[in-house]
Amino acid sequence: MSPDILVIAPLPPFLYEPLKADYRCHDYYQSSHKPGLLAAEGARIRGLVQGGGTVTPTTLLDALPKLEIISVFGVGYDGVPVDYCRRRGIKVTHTPDVLTDDVADVALALILMTGRGFVRLNRFVQAREWEKHGPELTTKLGGRKVGILGLGRIGKAIAQRVAAMGMKVSYTGRTRQDVAYEYVPDLKRLATAVDFLVVACPGGEATRNIVNAEVLAALGKKGTLVNIARGSIVDEPALVGALASGTIKGAGLDVFADEPHIPEQLFAMDNVVLLPHVGSATRETRQAMGDLCKANLDAWFAGRDVLTLIPELT
Ligand code: 8YV
Repeated sequence: MSPDILVIAPLPPFLYEPLKADYRCHDYYQSSHKPGLLAAEGARIRGLVQGGGTVTPTTLLDALPKLEIISVFGVGYDGVPVDYCRRRGIKVTHTPDVLTDDVADVALALILMTGRGFVRLNRFVQAREWEKHGPELTTKLGGRKVGILGLGRIGKAIAQRVAAMGMKVSYTGRTRQDVAYEYVPDLKRLATAVDFLVVACPGGEATRNIVNAEVLAALGKKGTLVNIARGSIVDEPALVGALASGTIKGAGLDVFADEPHIPEQLFAMDNVVLLPHVGSATRETRQAMGDLCKANLDAWFAGRDVLTLIPELT
């Protein structure tokens, strides 16, 4: 008998179809009668699949007494109640590594788009303004300072890219690492020192709103905020305020607090570049994430070790 799996997020067909071939999938996300689905199938569910941004309430997990594994289609698992899972012995897996380069590419792109004004300049050409006058001058990026909040896999890949452009890298995080970049233990001090503050740490309670009004004030008029991690890490109303008042220079954002909803004021700001959470959104990477998401379930239900358990549970 194939194991029963609860699917609580929208999945791409290249993941969902192979899952359906090997498991009895129950589409909780699409279900119009969720309590009915849980009452009928909850006791049989042994696996759960969700996205990186999906929030999984413990009340839902309470209704799944036989749950053995949560396989996250994404590297971030800030929506998973990890302590609860530890207590119940539920494995939690995610999809690290396979998306690192793509996400780092987006951070680099946001630095280029904000620093060199490329989005504005693209609009300038499309509006036929170039036929009337020359383009604005922007800022040389070589020699500028990039501060990375969270020097994990993705943070390191961002550091490599900006270092290759001649930018100077420093970072903050819980611990100093054995790397060539300067460690600045305090986030506010890092913000004070850099031209670009790049958010690349995990989301969740430990980092909620740590990029707050004070940090943004420290970043100041010379500074641009780039976020490719989670919207929850930045105090969004404070960010909107800092942009509106000219407290900071600009922002390049791939993630938001309440996706896909974006604070109304941001739409009209031409010092802001907005992307629809596309860090990992290439066909190749999403396929690799899908393969890994399923491979973790396959390993578990075949009695083998899972491939990419989250570090808290190792
Ligand atoms: C995806 C992400 O958008 O990996 C993550 O943590 O946020 C993104 O790669 C998401 O996980 C797709 O469900």
